[in-house]
Amino acid sequence: MKTVKLDINYTEYSSLTEMDPKDQELVKEAIKAQKNSYAPYSKFNVGAAIRLEDGTVVRGSNQENAAYPSGLCAERTAMFAANANYPGKAMVSLAIVGGFGYDVADTPCTPCGACRQVMAEYQTLSGKPMSIIMFGTKKSWKFDKVDDILPFIFDSFNEK
Ligand code: THU
Repeated sequence: MKTVKLDINYTEYSSLTEMDPKDQELVKEAIKAQKNSYAPYSKFNVGAAIRLEDGTVVRGSNQENAAYPSGLCAERTAMFAANANYPGKAMVSLAIVGGFGYDVADTPCTPCGACRQVMAEYQTLSGKPMSIIMFGTKKSWKFDKVDDILPFIFDSFNEK
């Protein structure tokens, strides 16, 4: 028996301009995406933008519904749109912003567990790491791969 320690590395930024220019661009796309959020119930507006391996950017935002579970998070809206419209193209980076009343919060918008699981599946499908950028106006985080935000990922290989 032994105790095992898990180390996770990520980068923290205190402003958008500290980021790699391509990441800055993707965050700006996520901010644009947030404007199309439909969240009359929670009033929490989330935008997501995905860069595909060929440079195409796909946007998504949270879409709520009076029948609450029928709504969907911004990240899954974007990922499903990406794979529905550009099947087989790796999603190499995903940026997320969120805030109440269409504001961009000053702290990072962290994805829910269900979205992390969907990210994991698309990353496994493409075989290429998907970096995740969680943006906040005063603090942002970048993780180089989904494994870093969902350790011990369940994928179909676990079933074999
Ligand atoms: N939401 C997202 O779109 N992404 C997240 O990462 C967290 C939560 C949405 C779901 C719901 O429409 C609203 O934010 C409040 O939970």
